[in-house]
Amino acid sequence: VERKNQTLPTILEMNRLLVRGAVQSGGTVVDATAGNGHDTVFLADLVGEGGQVYAFDIQETALRTTRDRLEKEGFQDRTTLIHDSHSHMATHVPIVVHGQVQAVLFNLGYLPRGDKSLTTQPETTLAGLEVGLDLLAPGGIISLVLYVGHPGGQDEAEAVIRWSQALDPRQYHTFRYELINHPTHPPFLILIEKRR
Ligand SMILES: C[S@@+](CC[C@H](N)C(=O)[O-])C[C@H]1O[C@@H](n2cnc3c(N)ncnc32)[C@H](O)[C@@H]1O
Repeated sequence: VERKNQTLPTILEMNRLLVRGAVQSGGTVVDATAGNGHDTVFLADLVGEGGQVYAFDIQETALRTTRDRLEKEGFQDRTTLIHDSHSHMATHVPIVVHGQVQAVLFNLGYLPRGDKSLTTQPETTLAGLEVGLDLLAPGGIISLVLYVGHPGGQDEAEAVIRWSQALDPRQYHTFRYELINHPTHPPFLILIEKRR
């Protein structure tokens, strides 16, 4: 990536860099929070023609925006959009690929340019994370972009941190990437790898 003003990757760049390293062409991945579809398009590009992206959102309007974006890129055939909570992921992702998913992305918070009061919630996020672990292939990753600036964001982030710190280190490795000297509260990144 070319950067004008900085050398180190931003949170979103770092996320993509690390996800890219976990996903192979032809792979299966999950976008747990489709939102405006930016990550869904990124993932669809990454898995290529033979791959499949399962993208979830609880808001119809988010899925519409995501669908438009995918159609513009010609990525419809390699994506499945699901209007349900990511806590129900396992019932929508085909059983044959359980244990083979290379990446599950969570971008928490509210839909940008949408209803700011409709945010991800700790209970469903943690349920989605538990299911996400079951879906992962050995070497597969869960990535989380966490925001603390909106109401409820801090509590959710703390719940996710507690949950990920309690994962058995013999089975999982958890990493964090964060800008720690900024006066506002920028998002930060948590990555969990299912060990081979
Ligand atoms: C920060 S946005 C995602 C942005 C997206 N990654 C993008 O590239 O545009 C968070 C999204 O999560 C969705 N969401 C909230 N709770 C959810 C749940 N339980 N299951 C699935 N999606 C959920 C919201 O509707 C919102 O669209």
